[in-house]
Amino acid sequence: MTTYRPPPLSSFPRIGAIFAILCLGSIAAAVAQGTAPAAPGVNETCFACHGDKDAKRADGRSIAVEGAAFAQSVHGEMHLKCTDCHSDVSAQKLPHPEKLKPVACASCHQNEVKEYSNTVHGIARKGGSTVAATCTDCHGLHDIKRAKDPASRTNHANLEATCGKCHGNDAMVASAKLPGGNIVSQFHDSIHGKALTGAAAASAPTCTNCHGAHTIRAKSDPESATNRARIPDTCGNCHKKERAQFATSQHGQMRHEGNLAAPGCNDCHSAHRIQQHDLPAFKTQVINECGTCHADYLSTYRDTFHGQVTALGYSSMATCASCHGSHEILPASNPASTVSPQNRLKTCQKCHAGASENFANYDPHANRHDRARNPLYYYAALFMDWLLIGVIGFFGIHTLFWFVRSLRARLARRTDSGNTEEKR
Ligand code: HEC
Ligand code: HEC
Ligand code: HEC
Ligand code: HEC
Ligand code: HEC
Ligand code: HEC
Ligand code: HEC
Ligand code: HEC
Ligand code: HEC
Ligand code: HEC
Ligand code: HEC
Repeated sequence: MTTYRPPPLSSFPRIGAIFAILCLGSIAAAVAQGTAPAAPGVNETCFACHGDKDAKRADGRSIAVEGAAFAQSVHGEMHLKCTDCHSDVSAQKLPHPEKLKPVACASCHQNEVKEYSNTVHGIARKGGSTVAATCTDCHGLHDIKRAKDPASRTNHANLEATCGKCHGNDAMVASAKLPGGNIVSQFHDSIHGKALTGAAAASAPTCTNCHGAHTIRAKSDPESATNRARIPDTCGNCHKKERAQFATSQHGQMRHEGNLAAPGCNDCHSAHRIQQHDLPAFKTQVINECGTCHADYLSTYRDTFHGQVTALGYSSMATCASCHGSHEILPASNPASTVSPQNRLKTCQKCHAGASENFANYDPHANRHDRARNPLYYYAALFMDWLLIGVIGFFGIHTLFWFVRSLRARLARRTDSGNTEEKR
């Protein structure tokens, strides 16, 4: 809730009755004139010039204020006077100066202004940025509405577009070097982005569900909801079941101990391109995500039938997650692991219905370079290597000798025929 410090008493009607009468009067007058209902007097004076939709500054920039939009704004509804915000203008002293002081939202919204000053946008402005979001970039100017109003820029349904004015604008992204590139184009087609236009719209996250609004911070800031350490809790606000399961996994336990080398939700799912979990594209893609940290297990997996088939994009094959699980991953030595000696057969049988104990002993990460782990594989591979080197070596040298020999024969022949030519 906003802390509203009222403007000086003099600017509001003192007695309720007078207030009501004046208000009704101004509404009637406004309806008659087709302008906005507002506190009597001052606003009409300003609209005499600023109500003209073609009113411009000397340099051509508009100074028009739309009466109807202002009347429907939260400030219009609260019967604020133009001069409550433009406090250096007086309706009694016109014409007013050409250059006016910028409006200070802080005079009434002290808390929000303080919160904002610690956000990534506020800090960037203090540092001289002219493009980071300010109050009016997110809320508007004279048409500000409460967030619960469906027409508000800060309504849940409209925030993708509001933040997208910058984070979804290619020209702006390039000129201001916005971190992460065009986020909105990434986000729009994600499962969350799609859900925002569907039946579950109200429960799907938009930008501010993950980032906050007056608490948006750079991800490098430890207090940011999108700081690496805090992401599982941020996603876990909605995905409670996955969050709880993840906490029991090897990865989750490492994170609990403060080891951020272990993955968080975004390492496997991404942040803005999150896909439905059972889509083939996600299933085959996540293999590579595991592989960014477990490179040797990825490469041994790729040597197997399973790994070669998924590399071609077929997802009905065993992926890392089919054998290890996703949020419940544990070391093989833990009896609860899906690949522990106790559970391994059951895991293979999910797909290989008739698999035997012997079948399950097949090593899905057999490594031809690891003599201790797979001695047979190691020596067989070594033998095949030498066989290959031997064959190529033998025929290589053979071919070389053959080439030299045939070259000499050919040269000899040419010298011969050359001589014949000359003699003629
Ligand atoms: C007689 C016509 C007239 C009236 C009445 C008038 N203004 Fe203006 N106002 C102007 C003009 C002209 C400008 C453009 C000045 C310039 O060229 O920069 C302007 C500019 C402004 C600006 C922009 C200043 C800036 O620094 O960019 C604000 C804000 C403003 N007026 C507020 C008010 C308010 C509030 C009232 C009512 C109390 C009011 N005006 C009444 C003519 C008027
Ligand atoms: C809730 C505060 C608020 C109220 C109330 C308000 N304004 Fe403004 N107005 C602003 C802000 C913010 C700006 C942007 C420039 C700045 O920061 O000073 C602005 C800019 C303007 C400008 C410059 C043109 C522009 O679009 O940049 C004019 C003219 C103006 N206001 C007139 C009015 C008039 C007339 C009223 C009364 C009907 C009014 N304002 C009421 C906050 C307010
Ligand atoms: C003169 C005092 C005053 C100034 C200056 C002012 N506001 Fe307000 N604002 C109010 C009042 C009064 C309300 C209604 C508060 C309420 O009902 O809780 C309000 C409400 C709002 C709301 C809706 C709050 C809600 O509960 O959803 C927003 C957003 C807002 N103002 C933004 C701004 C911005 C941005 C500025 C600066 C451009 C500004 N205000 C300047 C008095 C002011
Ligand atoms: C990056 C966009 C953004 C910026 C910048 C921003 N706001 Fe907001 N503001 C929001 C959103 C979104 C909400 C709605 C929050 C919600 O629904 O809980 C909001 C809510 C509010 C409210 C309603 C009360 C509340 O806290 O829910 C007020 C008042 C307000 N903002 C004023 C301001 C002022 C004053 C500034 C400048 C100092 C400002 N805002 C800067 C996005 C922004
Ligand atoms: C489901 C949660 C979620 C939603 C919704 C979301 N973000 Fe993010 N965002 C994140 C996370 C988590 C990160 C940090 C990613 C990382 O560390 O790589 C992030 C990072 C960012 C970054 C910094 C990118 C970088 O590489 O430095 C920006 C900018 C950003 N988000 C803007 C947005 C905007 C704009 C929207 C709305 C269109 C949005 N986000 C929606 C979770 C979300
Ligand atoms: C008027 C343009 C503008 C709007 C609107 C805007 N931003 Fe930004 N945003 C920026 C700029 C510029 C930066 C880079 C600030 C800096 O230089 O550090 C930024 C930075 C960020 C970052 C920090 C990324 C990181 O981790 O370093 C996040 C997150 C972010 N914005 C989210 C949002 C969200 C969410 C919204 C909507 C509620 C929003 N922005 C609206 C201009 C904007
Ligand atoms: C190590 C990689 C990894 C991490 C870390 C991870 N996930 Fe997942 N997640 C997956 C995989 C793989 C699936 C698909 C599982 C399947 O198909 O059975 C999945 C599925 C999901 C689903 C869909 C579940 C369903 O059955 O509908 C949600 C929701 C989800 N993850 C959220 C999260 C959240 C929230 C976090 C962080 C707390 C997280 N994930 C961390 C890999 C991961
Ligand atoms: C505000 C609540 C909210 C937050 C925060 C949130 N999500 Fe979601 N998420 C949803 C909803 C609602 C859906 C379901 C969309 C649908 O099924 O159409 C969903 C869907 C998903 C899915 C697909 C589930 C499936 O059925 O395959 C994954 C994966 C997922 N979210 C991961 C994440 C991750 C990772 C984060 C954090 C970066 C996150 N979510 C943050 C609400 C949230
Ligand atoms: C961001 C890096 C990262 C990602 C992504 C990642 N892991 Fe891990 N994983 C780790 C780290 C670090 C450990 C702990 C290794 C250790 O203890 O030596 C670990 C541990 C494991 C373990 C337990 C074995 C052990 O050595 O303790 C398994 C099994 C595992 N991960 C499988 C997976 C699978 C499957 C995926 C993809 C669905 C995945 N990991 C994604 C970093 C990652
Ligand atoms: C067909 C099932 C299967 C697939 C597919 C699979 N693994 Fe494994 N993985 C296993 C088994 C079984 C073990 C235990 C082998 C052993 O005894 O050392 C294991 C061991 C591991 C370990 C070491 C665990 C420990 O406790 O030491 C990691 C890490 C790992 N796998 C990661 C991956 C990654 C990453 C992928 C995908 C690129 C993957 N696995 C694909 C079955 C599989
Ligand atoms: C997600 C399903 C799935 C899981 C789990 C799975 N596989 Fe497979 N695997 C397949 C499919 C599909 C094939 C293709 C050949 C077939 O139909 O048998 C295959 C092929 C194989 C092959 C090579 C072809 C053959 O039949 O000789 C071996 C070896 C194999 N799997 C071993 C395992 C072992 C060991 C496990 C358990 C650690 C396991 N698989 C778990 C789906 C799976």
